[in-house]
Amino acid sequence: MPTVLITGASRGIGLELVRCYADGSASVIACCRHPEAATALGTIAGDVTVMPLDVADAASVAALAASLGDRPVDILINNAGISGPSYDHQSVYSMDFDGWAEAFAVNAMGPVRMLQALMSNLKASHDARVVNITSQMGAMSLDMTVAYAYCTSKAALNKFMRMAAIELKPQGIKVCLIHPGWVQTDMGGPNAEITPEASAQGIVRVVEGLNADNTGSFWKWNGETHDW
Ligand SMILES: NC(=O)c1ccc[n+]([C@@H]2O[C@H](COP(=O)([O-])OP(=O)(O)OC[C@H]3O[C@@H](n4cnc5c(N)ncnc54)[C@H](OP(=O)(O)O)[C@@H]3O)[C@@H](O)[C@H]2O)c1
Repeated sequence: MPTVLITGASRGIGLELVRCYADGSASVIACCRHPEAATALGTIAGDVTVMPLDVADAASVAALAASLGDRPVDILINNAGISGPSYDHQSVYSMDFDGWAEAFAVNAMGPVRMLQALMSNLKASHDARVVNITSQMGAMSLDMTVAYAYCTSKAALNKFMRMAAIELKPQGIKVCLIHPGWVQTDMGGPNAEITPEASAQGIVRVVEGLNADNTGSFWKWNGETHDW
């Protein structure tokens, strides 16, 4: 069974991704900042191991990697994310710079920390995939002038992982970016367009289609290509 490691698994899309992969098709390592408080995770049957992880904390990422040892990781899903400061403090007129840095630490640097810390685990897999849950708001093609800190953190993630896909292709490590849709989570709010279940199920299908020919792609949760 493949091993799937998911960050930000305590709630929202990450929690639903755990549910999807815990259907008997995979061994799931569900990572979250506070395992003791992640009660929903504990109710999921299947091969699920819950592990502590703060993707913005280098020591926490290193501790996770150490606890994995040489275990192969077949699918790394960088899902953890934050929306950053309140929207009136991440605009063209006003920026909470500490909050912007925090958004970068979680949304852009967190996935990079994970990729680098788990590189040997990915290389130990015969079919390694690195899946980055980004956002349409990180696309240059979307002219939506809100959430400057969040948008730029996702744009940075997109560019890094696009380059990583090229460099890691000879190693057999495939990399993609997926916009999960506008999803009814704490981040997306109750008026969002799709449920976390629909988003996660779509993401799982998209991940199945990731291969050496299409590595470096930017997709939507429904499999459509996303403009950069
Ligand atoms: N919802 C949408 O409409 C939407 C749209 C586009 C993109 N996205 C992206 O989809 C991903 C999941 O979002 P969501 O809607 O499920 O959000 P959510 O419900 O707010 O959940 C966010 C998850 O990230 C975790 N997290 C936050 N900071 C972390 C850190 N430093 N280290 C580890 N985990 C951390 C949270 O853990 P705690 O429980 O410990 O806080 C939680 O599990 C994010 O990358 C987001 O940017 C969402």
